[in-house]
Amino acid sequence: VERILSHTACADLSVIPVIDSTNQYLLDRVGQLPSGAVCVAEYQQAGRGRRGRQWLSPFGSNLYLSMYWRLEAGMAAAMGLSLVVGVAIAEALQSLGADGIRVKWPNDLYYQDKKLAGILVEMTGQAGDAAHLVIGMGLNIAMPEQEGESIEQGWTNLTQACDTLPGRNQLAATLIAKLAQTLTDYEEKGLDGFIERWNRLDNFLNRPVKLLMGPRVVEGIARGINNQGALLLETEEGLVPYIGGEISLRGC
Ligand code: BTN
Repeated sequence: VERILSHTACADLSVIPVIDSTNQYLLDRVGQLPSGAVCVAEYQQAGRGRRGRQWLSPFGSNLYLSMYWRLEAGMAAAMGLSLVVGVAIAEALQSLGADGIRVKWPNDLYYQDKKLAGILVEMTGQAGDAAHLVIGMGLNIAMPEQEGESIEQGWTNLTQACDTLPGRNQLAATLIAKLAQTLTDYEEKGLDGFIERWNRLDNFLNRPVKLLMGPRVVEGIARGINNQGALLLETEEGLVPYIGGEISLRGC
């Protein structure tokens, strides 16, 4: 791997065939990277998902991509960021001919009620300083059935959503450009400019849902997000906002 790295790694784009985790690769290099630096891999030996789960990362069939972003406004401004990233991915895929891509709060991409991609935002930084974010996405493109057998929830592939599947280079390039533009917009304008876009893409808008919070389960009708990025759930007590604690924080 070291030999491959010396050929393929540069400051802002690292294409690495085999890696532990593209998120970890960027987190390990936070001080040396410009905003927008990307790591893409063919295979992750220790791909990770939210809540400490494993992210199944078979060779060659999916996209594993992470981007570093230095958020000058600090950690508090990172709230809602994964929602914005979901919008960016859905719109990027749409621009490549994939119809019917949806977002699921707080940070999954769905197609026909099944998971197509997941987003993991990890962050380091000190209170009062710029936040160092690593935004990772795992996109199922053509995951073989037998590889995905162990995945608990329903999942699907981009092949299902496209008449003509874009090449992986084109896919990566489009996602990278859209993500960088979206993060720049988010830094300038915050979440406000994205709420309507997110709600329009919401897979569960106006549908009954359950929120699982450890042993607690709350049921209601999903009514989109508010300007804090909280999910609005209509319950017997009225419209209740729920904030998702999805961003992991690490000390420098
Ligand atoms: C989830 O839905 O649980 C989030 C999954 C995020 C997976 C991606 S794959 C690229 C990047 N590297 C990782 O180790 N994880 C993210």
